[in-house]
Amino acid sequence: MSAAIIRVSDLTKKYSRAAREDALAVTEVNFDVVPGEFISLLGPSGCGKSTVLNCIAGLVAPTQGYVEVAGERVKSPSKSLGVAFQEPLLMDWRTSLDNVMLQLEMRGKTTPEQKAEARRLLASVGLSAFENAYPWQLSGGMKQRVALCRAMVHDPAVLLLDEPFGALDVFTRDQLNLDISRLARSAGKTVVLVTHSVPEAIFLSDRILVMTPRPGKVVEDIRVTLDDRTSLDVRGSAAFASYERQLYALFEAEGVLGNQAMYRH
Ligand SMILES: Nc1ncnc2c1ncn2[C@@H]1O[C@H](COP(=O)(O)OP(=O)(O)OP(=O)(O)O)[C@@H](O)[C@H]1O
Ligand SMILES: [Mg+2]
Repeated sequence: MSAAIIRVSDLTKKYSRAAREDALAVTEVNFDVVPGEFISLLGPSGCGKSTVLNCIAGLVAPTQGYVEVAGERVKSPSKSLGVAFQEPLLMDWRTSLDNVMLQLEMRGKTTPEQKAEARRLLASVGLSAFENAYPWQLSGGMKQRVALCRAMVHDPAVLLLDEPFGALDVFTRDQLNLDISRLARSAGKTVVLVTHSVPEAIFLSDRILVMTPRPGKVVEDIRVTLDDRTSLDVRGSAAFASYERQLYALFEAEGVLGNQAMYRH
C-alpha cells in the first residue's frame, strides 16, 4: 500500500454569510487517495463536492480539519496541481495552443520542448487542426479539451476536475470520458473528479466517494473494478449494472432519490 498523495482529514467547511445563518457546506470528510488512483466525488447538487475539491486545490480554506497534498499541508493555491472547472475559462484573444501554453508561461520562461508537448497533448485529443483557432471558433467540447490539455501540460501528478463536462451533450461527454480515462491512466495521474453522473463515475473511477447533502458528507466509499476502461461497451456489462444498482439504491436510502426527495428539506 503506497502512502497517500492526498489526505483529507476531518474536513469541515462553514461559509459565513452576511445577515444570514452560516452555511455548513461539508462536515467531517475523511479520505486518502494513493498515487495513480482515479476517484470521483459523486452526489447531488449542493452536497459540497466543489467545496471539497476547492479545499484540495487551496482555493477555499477549511473551517476545521486539513488537506495534505504530497505530505504538505495545503494553505494556498498550489502550482503543482492541474485544475479544470465546469467552465473552460479560456482567454478569447489566445489560440488553443497559446491557451495551453499560458499554464507554462505563468511558471516562467517556456522552452521549445514544452511547446512540442502542448502540441502533442492537443493532437492526442484530436485538436491538431485547431491549434491556431481562437476559442470562439471552437465547439464547447473542443474548448473543454483545450482546458484539459492546459490542466495537464505542466505534467502535474494530481489533476482536479470539477464537472468539466457538465454543459456538454452526451456524445461529446462520452468522447471526453474516453479521452480523460486514456490520458490520465497512461500518464499515471492521480485524479479527483467531481460529477453528478452515476455512469460517468463508474466508468472513470477506481473509487467513488458518495456524498449526500444537508450537511454535505461522504456516506460511502465504493471500490470499482471493471475489465476494460478503453471502450464504452463496458457500460453494458453485468458488473457495471450492478454498480449502478448499488449507487442508485444508496441515494434512495439516503433520501436523495425518490418521490420529491430533492425537495423534502
Ligand atoms: N461561497 C459560498 N458562500 C456561501 N455558501 C456557499 C458558498 N459556496 C458554496 N456554498 C454552499 O455550500 C453548499 C455546498 O456547495 P458546493 O458548491 O460545494 O456544492 P456542489 O456539490 O458542488 O453543488 P453543484 O453540484 O450544484 O455544483 C451549498 O449549500 C452552497 O449553497
Ligand atoms: Mg459544484
